[in-house]
Amino acid sequence: MKKKLIQNTTEHFEKLFHNQPEYIFLSPGRINIIGEHVDYNDGYVLPAAINKYVCITISPNKNSNCKIVAKDLNEVFEFDLKDTLVPNSIMWINYILGVLQQLKEQKQFANGFNAVFSSSVPIGSGLSSSAAVECGFAYAFNKMFDLGLTKEEIALIGQKSEHTFVGVNCGIMDQFASVFGKKNKVIKLDCNTLEYEYHKADFKKYSLLLLDSNVKHTHLTSGYNDRRNEVEQGLAIIKQHFTEVKTFRNCTSTMVLELKEQLGETIFKRCHFVVKEIQRVQDAVNAIENSAFRTLGQLMNETHHGLSQEYEVSCEEIDFLVDAVQYEKSVLGARMMGGGFGGCSINLVEKGSENELIKKISEQYRSKFGIELKSYKVKISKGTTEYKN
Ligand code: GLA
Repeated sequence: MKKKLIQNTTEHFEKLFHNQPEYIFLSPGRINIIGEHVDYNDGYVLPAAINKYVCITISPNKNSNCKIVAKDLNEVFEFDLKDTLVPNSIMWINYILGVLQQLKEQKQFANGFNAVFSSSVPIGSGLSSSAAVECGFAYAFNKMFDLGLTKEEIALIGQKSEHTFVGVNCGIMDQFASVFGKKNKVIKLDCNTLEYEYHKADFKKYSLLLLDSNVKHTHLTSGYNDRRNEVEQGLAIIKQHFTEVKTFRNCTSTMVLELKEQLGETIFKRCHFVVKEIQRVQDAVNAIENSAFRTLGQLMNETHHGLSQEYEVSCEEIDFLVDAVQYEKSVLGARMMGGGFGGCSINLVEKGSENELIKKISEQYRSKFGIELKSYKVKISKGTTEYKN
C-alpha cells in the first residue's frame, strides 16, 4: 500500500513535470491511545504515528514559482513565493501556505518548487491528515533547502500553520506524533515542556482497531475552539480560588468539585473531564508497562464516557460504535479518538477477532444509520521521513 502510494504519486509528478521528483517524503497520520483534549490543557498524551501516509514528491525550482498539485482532489495551486501569503478559500492549500509563511518570516526563504502530493490517511476521520500534510511539507522544505530546523521546530511550525491559516486552535499532539513517531512505540508527550519518552507498543494478545464512522466532523472547528475558550475560563476561575494552581496539572478533582457552583454546569464538566483525563494517561502508561490490558481498556471506556458526557465532543454515531462493543467479550475498551464530532473510535480488541467484530458492527451500524462503516487495522510506524529508493 505504501509502495503503491509512492509509485502513483511519483508517476503523477513525472507526467505533469516531465521529470523525476528530486525528493520523496512520507508523513504519517496518527492514533492516540489516550489523553484526548488535554494537549492544550497542560496534560500528557499517548499518540503514535501509523502506517497511513501523505506522500510528497517534490523538486526545487530555480525561481520563486510554486506549483502544488493535490492529486487526490485533482486540484492545482500556483503562486509566487515573493507574494504575500494569506489564507485561501481552498482549504488544503492553507496547511502548506501557513508553513511557508512562517519559513519566509523565520528563514527569509523564497525558493520555489513543484510538488505533487497524495494521501492514504483518510481525510476527516480524526487521523490527522492535516498534520501529516503540514509536517510533511515543513520537513520537505527543511531538507530540500537546508533550513536547519529541528524536528520540534517542524512540529511547532505545523501547529502554528493550523492556528494561523486553518483557524483551528489545536494543541501539539498531532504534529508531534507525525514527526516523532517510531515503529512499534507510543510516545508519552508532556505537552507543557515537549519532553517525551517512547514506550513499547506491545499489546500482546490484543490489537488496535479503528472503526471509522464515516461522519465528517463539520462542527470540529467551532466546537474545538469553543472548548478551548471554556476551559481557559475555567482555569482562570480555579486559579483565583486556589493560588497554588498554575496549570491543570496541579489542579485536583476535589478542587474542581468544590468550585462546581462558581464554574457553572458546563465549565465544571469540561474542567472535571480535563483533570481526570490527565490522570488517566498516567494510569494508562502504567497499565501498558505492566501488560494490564483490562485496566487499559477500562481507562479507554472512561475516557469515552467523559468525552461524550462531560467534554461533549462525541456524536450519536460514535457513541453508537462505542456502545455497540461494550458487551463484546473480545473488546477490552473503546473510545472516540481525536478532535471529535465524527471520525473514528479506537478499540482494544483480541487479535483474531477483528473480522468477525467488524462484520457484526458494520451490520448494526448500517441498519441504524444507513452508513457504511470503514475499519483500519493500523500498524505503529515511524514519523515523517525522506523516502529513498
Ligand atoms: C485534534 C487536535 C489535537 C488534539 C485532539 C484532541 O486532533 O489537533 O491537538 O487536541 O484534537 O485530543
